[in-house]
Amino acid sequence: MAVLLEAFSQEYKRKIEDRMMEIVAGLDTPGSLKSAMSYSLEAGGKRLRPLLVLAVLRAFGKDPHIGLDTACAIEMIHTYSLIHDDLPSMDDDDLRRGKPTNHKVFGEATAILAGDGLLTLAFGVIANQEQARLNPKVAIELVAELSKAAGAEGMVGGQVADMEGEHRDLHLSELEYIHVHKTGKLLSYSILAGAILAGADEEKRKHLREYAYHLGLAFQIRDDILDIEGSEIKIGKPIGSDETNHKSTYPALLSLDGAKDKLSTHVHLAKEALLQTDFQQDILTEMIELVAKRDH
Ligand code: IPE
Ligand code: IPE
Ligand code: MG
Ligand code: MG
Ligand code: MG
Repeated sequence: MAVLLEAFSQEYKRKIEDRMMEIVAGLDTPGSLKSAMSYSLEAGGKRLRPLLVLAVLRAFGKDPHIGLDTACAIEMIHTYSLIHDDLPSMDDDDLRRGKPTNHKVFGEATAILAGDGLLTLAFGVIANQEQARLNPKVAIELVAELSKAAGAEGMVGGQVADMEGEHRDLHLSELEYIHVHKTGKLLSYSILAGAILAGADEEKRKHLREYAYHLGLAFQIRDDILDIEGSEIKIGKPIGSDETNHKSTYPALLSLDGAKDKLSTHVHLAKEALLQTDFQQDILTEMIELVAKRDH
């Protein structure tokens, strides 16, 4: 049982959700757009990325609250990516976070714009963090790194490679590129953002980068496994979507057991990376265990 993580999530999940809703409610924009943006943000989700930002701050003995807006910004980017990922022109899925997908409720055009709204809002949220009284240099580094992680060199690049890999037999290295980018980059950014906010030095960042790399891969391998043997009710999204879309996945390439072995290897390596550090590792260790075992 991930006791510490459980308590930590209970404490901060609500704060992350309330703060996101407060930000969106304050926007001066058409009501239809506000509703579409709020709908997907409110739909739930594990909030893993924002919790990672706050967990890293805690690991460095800092007050997690200083990362709250950065954490919210990452969840906005993640939510936009899900809205677009589910569109008919992409994975064409009808269910997300246990609810009809954004385009099913608001129509495709509004769903695209709700995604655009969340993506662009995120950068403003990081840049305007009055309550955290961020040093402008720190804010600029956070923005620059987010642009890289979420954009063409990061998540978006990975989504394109994923799409171009459909109907093809990929090599393991090609599949790893997809996973590292489409999922790993934003997860890694969440960890990096915590380290930037905590003022971590290069030595500590190096070990955290290693941890984040393995966590990202483990996370997406588990996502691929859940797409085969997960429960639609529990994960709140359709299973079998990868097969329908002829995606290359770890289980497709390595068999289900092979994918599970690979997952264990990455969990082990993530823990090894943490052991090289001298900050408080408990919650980050529980995080990687949860990623590997999660059923949703
Ligand atoms: C789903 O991410 C999309 C992937 C990158 C695999 P999550 O599994 O974190 O989704 P939510 O936020 O909990 O809904
Ligand atoms: C999506 O990967 C990753 C994103 C950048 C949104 P998937 O297409 O595998 O995510 P799910 O399974 O629909 O959540
Ligand atoms: Mg996809
Ligand atoms: Mg998808
Ligand atoms: Mg998937």
